[in-house]
Amino acid sequence: MRPCSGLAIRGRRLRSATLTPGGTRPWQRRHAERPYHRLVARRTVVITGGASGIGAATASRLAEQGWAVGILDRCSDVAAALARRLTASGAVAGAYVADVTDPAAVDAAVAAAVHELGPMRGLVRCAGIPGVSPAAELDDARLAAVVDVHLGGTVRAARAAHPHLVAAGGGAIVAVSSIAGRVGFAGRLSYAAAKGGIDALVRTLATEWAADGVRVNAVAPGFVATPMIARQIELGEVDEGARSARVPLGRFARPEEIADVIAFLASEAASYVTGHVLVADGGATAAWRE
Ligand SMILES: NC(=O)c1ccc[n+]([C@@H]2O[C@H](COP(=O)([O-])OP(=O)(O)OC[C@H]3O[C@@H](n4cnc5c(N)ncnc54)[C@H](O)[C@@H]3O)[C@@H](O)[C@H]2O)c1
Repeated sequence: MRPCSGLAIRGRRLRSATLTPGGTRPWQRRHAERPYHRLVARRTVVITGGASGIGAATASRLAEQGWAVGILDRCSDVAAALARRLTASGAVAGAYVADVTDPAAVDAAVAAAVHELGPMRGLVRCAGIPGVSPAAELDDARLAAVVDVHLGGTVRAARAAHPHLVAAGGGAIVAVSSIAGRVGFAGRLSYAAAKGGIDALVRTLATEWAADGVRVNAVAPGFVATPMIARQIELGEVDEGARSARVPLGRFARPEEIADVIAFLASEAASYVTGHVLVADGGATAAWRE
């Protein structure tokens, strides 16, 4: 099963709900039309991997909170459909196709989102692929691919966002990490190494970019009921019942529950929080289970 169609289109701006005839930028037109948007400062967030799962839930939550949302994903069709849904519900949203392993495509997509949606105050990195394999059988190509998407993709997105966040007067970066980066997770060496790298990246960028007014944090979820995990359940790589039994709250998270944590870290309510990895795992890593 392919995760989406449209993988061949790299670095190209999608036709999206943000396109307007007549040269007016969509955010200028919409903000002028809607009294609500005249009252609040414009703020755009770009979400990598925003077409599905945690990223899509975050796009919806941040759109509800008045953010203009740029959905950056390699899945052009799914991203465009979500942007249309958000726009139809009154939000400002656009879809931008890029593979996070392609630096030029990421730069172009972020720049297009800022141009069309308005000043960038937030970046959420979600784009990810699974990395399930016994360590002894992990081949170099898969190791490189998983690390490149998760860790390299985070570096590229943060680097692309930085000048725009600085130009807007500062903002917040929120990375989706995983408890796999914090505790031993048999069978997920490449994924765990990439997530551990993201945690280190968060602390480093938080230190380096604080003077620029850019806060950098991460959320580390446990298991979340998304298409990525549904596929692993289908393949027999995850046993939902057994895993849930090890979680004190007794279940996997809903994507919306992780989106709420991301929305908090992106918001002014977290104005003194930077360099932090917030665990949202239903108590899984707090518990000692025999
Ligand atoms: N689902 C979980 O249990 C769980 C737990 C902890 C952390 N996470 C992390 O949350 C993030 C989102 O995962 P999800 O479960 O929502 O998965 P998902 O498969 O539902 O969504 C991932 C999205 O990333 C996009 N993507 C993948 N590779 C890309 C690339 N190279 N360039 C651009 N976009 C790309 C996909 O097209 C998809 O839209 C991932 O980083 C994952 O590691 C998930």
